[in-house]
Amino acid sequence: MLVSSPKARLERRPFNEQVLQSGQTLHTHAESIMRVITEEIAALRGHLEFTRVLTWGAFNKTWWRIVRRITLGDAARDDEQLTHDLNQLRARANLSYLVPKNRQQRQRFLAAIRGYLDRAEPGSLAGMAAHTPTTAKTVPEQQFPQWLFAFDSGSWATFRALSLLAVDQTTTATARAEAQASFPDMPLLRASVLESVRLWPTTPLILRDTTETTTWRNGELKTGTSMLIFTPFFHRDDQTIPEAHRFAPQLWMEDRDNTDWPLVPFSSGPGFCPGRDVVLLTASAVLAEMLRDHDFSPANGSTTAVEPLDLEHLPGSLSPFSSRFTVTRR
Ligand code: HEM
Repeated sequence: MLVSSPKARLERRPFNEQVLQSGQTLHTHAESIMRVITEEIAALRGHLEFTRVLTWGAFNKTWWRIVRRITLGDAARDDEQLTHDLNQLRARANLSYLVPKNRQQRQRFLAAIRGYLDRAEPGSLAGMAAHTPTTAKTVPEQQFPQWLFAFDSGSWATFRALSLLAVDQTTTATARAEAQASFPDMPLLRASVLESVRLWPTTPLILRDTTETTTWRNGELKTGTSMLIFTPFFHRDDQTIPEAHRFAPQLWMEDRDNTDWPLVPFSSGPGFCPGRDVVLLTASAVLAEMLRDHDFSPANGSTTAVEPLDLEHLPGSLSPFSSRFTVTRR
């Protein structure tokens, strides 16, 4: 999808929007998504009761089980080979022409995706894709790999949101009450994940070509100018946003005129992220389930000591990979 020609995009974008249900806070599959999350977080809880520490490794393993089930179906739960192949193919693709293609691995990966698409498990995105109109250019088996790798940034965003909530006990208490009252529609947890990607965008660069002449403070740019939008520049602009460096979920909970809204972690306009709602639903439900009967507090790493996050002056970067939490039963 991302690298599609304008013509192919016309057919692929609607397919993406229909299956991912962009613009719909609660996906039609919300019930099965919740079931998957409840089961997988229950399994993670068992592990946490024993270790009392949540590491990135344990969280990410659970996240991927959830993602494989939501996208490809329950049959894909333990298909770690698929995720491994995806990660390796991505790493090679990032080096582009510098390393030879691994055709065998790509074929194995695509064959596995095709298998799950043929199976079309009800309640999964693969099941929904089977009932969504396609054209010769849509090629669902080529869309799913992008959806899978895009879910990767969802795990970073969720773990960083947990880092914020672990320090902000007041927001956590309100979020818990909200989750009890309105699960799975949880605006505060959703806003906390949005804050995570505002503060630490997982896609900090948006590329565009202008379609008309644009006027700037210091002159005009002609049609067809390539633009690079560096989102942290807007998200952390303390001259226009007083909350720029604070954890401020309320930014996402107010009714506002969106015309000049400068916070675009999921981009904006006709090319905005079509996975926005499904990933926000997944991330907020994962947080709700985790926080339900456990408290999380920042823990030191195995070799490093951590400074607790200062919610009034948040750092410009936050590695999810080295974050750890001490877990206690409530
Ligand atoms: C925290 C998680 C995510 C963030 C912050 C995010 C953000 C973004 C951003 C900024 C873009 C670029 C849009 C543009 O060029 O204007 C994008 C594109 C896209 N995202 Fe996401 N995304 C996330 C997760 C997902 C997920 C889970 C899916 C699918 C299930 C997804 C599907 C896509 C697709 C298909 C595109 C290409 C859209 C197009 O070219 O028209 N994303 N995303």
